[in-house]
Amino acid sequence: MSAIPTDARRIAPATARNRDPILDVLRAELPASGTVLEIASGSGEHIVHFARALPHLRWQPSDPSPDARASVAAWTRAEELPAILPPIALDAADDAWPIGPVEAILCINMVHISPWAATKGLIAGAAARLPDGGLLYLYGPYRRTGMVTAPSNEAFDEDLRRRDPRWGLRLLDDVSALAADHGFGAAHVIEMPANNISILYRKLA
Ligand SMILES: C[S@@+](CC[C@H](N)C(=O)[O-])C[C@H]1O[C@@H](n2cnc3c(N)ncnc32)[C@H](O)[C@@H]1O
Repeated sequence: MSAIPTDARRIAPATARNRDPILDVLRAELPASGTVLEIASGSGEHIVHFARALPHLRWQPSDPSPDARASVAAWTRAEELPAILPPIALDAADDAWPIGPVEAILCINMVHISPWAATKGLIAGAAARLPDGGLLYLYGPYRRTGMVTAPSNEAFDEDLRRRDPRWGLRLLDDVSALAADHGFGAAHVIEMPANNISILYRKLA
């Protein structure tokens, strides 16, 4: 039995359903070496899963929430994964991020549960830190031009806006326009389970 304290570990039930489909995408798209920064790590279950599968990369978790960072640290200790660095306090909306260049950036399920300023900061911060060809990976539910939004996502959007009027599903085209303004190429979209999508942006040379 482990003597490591486990009380700070949180569990986000959706992670058990989406972590393997996301990992399948990342396996094919992440670089062979270097540091992967995760924005909005939440419970830390994703980064633990990815680091276990891809231990040749260095994994940098982050979240502005102290409770989230405590959970990430507790998961990392419990799973004994040396590839995961200690979590850092990082608010994507801030101009100054406490980290320098990285090889890839992941952001799962934050864009719709934060003000638009967080997405703007995410894309500007990623553009400033990624090398040419570097990957910015987003995952979550989005609205898409010319496509009907699934009823479950419409209901989710309503619920989000009720909780905070600054939240809500974003239009993929708006995110891609922002990414283009910051030197990223066109979105590569991969359909994922439960009406979510993976969005991959590569920094142009
Ligand atoms: C729904 S949770 C997703 C957590 C995790 N990525 C997952 O998919 O389980 C949203 C996370 O976004 C974080 N968050 C909210 N606003 C943020 C911001 N401005 N910058 C970075 N993270 C933010 C929250 O602290 C929370 O951990």
